[in-house]
Amino acid sequence: MKEGRSRKRKRARHTQPLDQQSLQSNKDENQTSSSAKRPKPSTSFLDKFDSFCLSVSGKEALSYFGDDPTMFDMYHAGYQEQMSHWPELPVNIIIKWLKGRSPSLVVADFGCGDARLAKSVKNKVFSFDLVSNDPSVIACDMSNTPLGSSSVDVAVFCLSLMGTNFSSYLQEAHRVLKPSGWLLIAEVKSRFDPNTGGADPNKFSKAVCDLGFASELKDFSNKMFILLHFKKKEKQNSKHKEIEWPELKPCLYKRR
Ligand SMILES: C[S@@+](CC[C@H](N)C(=O)[O-])C[C@H]1O[C@@H](n2cnc3c(N)ncnc32)[C@H](O)[C@@H]1O
Repeated sequence: MKEGRSRKRKRARHTQPLDQQSLQSNKDENQTSSSAKRPKPSTSFLDKFDSFCLSVSGKEALSYFGDDPTMFDMYHAGYQEQMSHWPELPVNIIIKWLKGRSPSLVVADFGCGDARLAKSVKNKVFSFDLVSNDPSVIACDMSNTPLGSSSVDVAVFCLSLMGTNFSSYLQEAHRVLKPSGWLLIAEVKSRFDPNTGGADPNKFSKAVCDLGFASELKDFSNKMFILLHFKKKEKQNSKHKEIEWPELKPCLYKRR
């Protein structure tokens, strides 16, 4: 088992040597420089973590962080610190949206982090992430969840569209959603700002619609993030259509 794992890690290093090594060296610096009990990763560590997750597939990220959960813990400590400077958290907007609806709606939280969503609502929530730090979180690559087809009412991606294969996460959400089920996406605004090299939100929205959804909401009013809501179409188009997904750039963690 151990031998297989280390071989897997070696193979991952071979495919992404630079990103993983710089992530590792940043981790080492952070660990040695920190005398405090709680690790305090730098903003550049968060940027590197995000860049790394965005430069590999979900499967590779799962293999890497599954082998070294301390890196994952450092990311989340830093992520929470950065988020404490945001005036409003997108996850709270999604919690509010759910609280305004029936608690019988079954929810899948893709890239749940610390599972704040599941802890804040009465709904049944399936929480997925690369590493499980909580018994309620299912560790998996979210392009391949254990959920049955057409089994959930709401699929949530809150700041979690990472990975070169982000479209396969949305395909998985489409598979597990019931007809007329909701797809709720919150993403860092800069990733969808074509003026600064981000993706065109209309192109992204069109690609999601081509997957079999109808657009219900595009909200750009928040300074830090955008909100996109879609509903799974009742009837799916039987014709296979090649979907043109725009590239999603890494987000840069800046204080407001
Ligand atoms: C920026 S955090 C957001 C956490 C949470 N949704 C929130 O709003 O606080 C993104 C999360 O997505 C997870 N993630 C990224 N790629 C993933 C994958 N392929 N499968 C499962 N989780 C993934 C990361 O591990 C991370 O915890």
